[in-house]
Amino acid sequence: PHDLFERLREERPLFQVQLPNGVPLWLVTQYADCRAGLGDARLSNRIGTRIVAQDVLPAEIRASMGTHMLRVDGTDHTRLRRLVSSVFTAKRIERLRPMVEQMTSDLLDKMAVREQPDAIHDLAYPLPMQVICELLGVPVADHERFRTWSNAYLAGVGTQNFPVEVVTEFVHYVRDLVQQKRAEPDDKLLSAMIAARDDEDRLAEHELTSMCFLLIIAGYETTVNLLGNGTALLLDRPELADRLRADHEAIPAAVEEFLRFESPVPGASFRVATETLELGGQTIEEGELVLISLLSANRDGQVFPDSMSFDAERTPNQHMAFGYGMHYCLGAPLARLEAHIAFRQLLERFPRMERLDPSAALSWRPGLVMRGLTELPVKLNQ
Ligand code: HEM
Repeated sequence: PHDLFERLREERPLFQVQLPNGVPLWLVTQYADCRAGLGDARLSNRIGTRIVAQDVLPAEIRASMGTHMLRVDGTDHTRLRRLVSSVFTAKRIERLRPMVEQMTSDLLDKMAVREQPDAIHDLAYPLPMQVICELLGVPVADHERFRTWSNAYLAGVGTQNFPVEVVTEFVHYVRDLVQQKRAEPDDKLLSAMIAARDDEDRLAEHELTSMCFLLIIAGYETTVNLLGNGTALLLDRPELADRLRADHEAIPAAVEEFLRFESPVPGASFRVATETLELGGQTIEEGELVLISLLSANRDGQVFPDSMSFDAERTPNQHMAFGYGMHYCLGAPLARLEAHIAFRQLLERFPRMERLDPSAALSWRPGLVMRGLTELPVKLNQ
């Protein structure tokens, strides 16, 4: 997609496209326009049923997955974000370091004895999943089901085959989970959110379900792609891997460049114009949808010199992989912590790791919502 975006940035910075399900939208590709769009309160996240068009989902299921902080604006957004924001501050997240270190080293122990190790299945996928489940207080045994549901959901967004059944099952699962935690509260985030609902009436029941749905999906689907894309970039650059192994201090800057160069979340969530407005010289009519391409913005040569080249020491590196403005990623400190630990341990533990078949094309995930690999088979050469 990078070459296409490069042409669009030059020739048609605002370009009207249609989702596979026929819904039209404006694709925004230049960095400056993307930033302006994300900072513009007239572009609202309350898109209602416009993408999951034709009302394919029963209203009560839609409410239980679509009323979280990323789908609202203004005071509702502030109220919902505030409920959980204290858990995700850089300081609180730093306290999770020993746990994440331990989870990573346990996963690498298992990877070391696998017959056919795979960087996605053995590390990139299970690590963020274990971390978010631990934070929320969700049973580890349910991981596989989440994965199936959330993959099917993300692959279906904007297509003709919106996976109604899968989403319904997912919502029912989350509702059951909430009931279980009500009966047996613990000291984790989900129980704290239930207390905020039951004791203080700070959110509605469907908002509570939606918040779990969002945190499960946002908490792991994205980070899987950062870990996977970064590993693939490293495997293709043995000199960089050697340098990072020798100098761990250089890992954070390399992670920022992974985020810029292969942005795990290729586009911000859809926005709708609440009034007619101008963006990048184009009139956007009230009610029209907008897709802000972070993948494209992050390769914009107007902002990043030699933007199509990977530079692990790039400074400054003001990428927008975590978005911008009031919906800026809540989990950025957590994603960074996981990435710093995972890459450091991976480099140390398997210094001679290579791709199983370096000539094979990378297998990118289907769908519009995530940029990541489905698998990355490796040889550990221990
Ligand atoms: C929002 C990216 C990890 C939770 C966002 C947005 C982006 C993003 C681009 C803004 C979307 C928009 O404006 O439409 C990423 C990337 C990650 C990552 C690239 C990993 C590499 C996480 C993690 C969590 C998380 C680990 C953990 C809970 C959230 C939440 C929001 C959000 C709750 C909504 C914030 C709001 O609406 O105010 N993320 N994310 N993310 N992210 Fe992340």
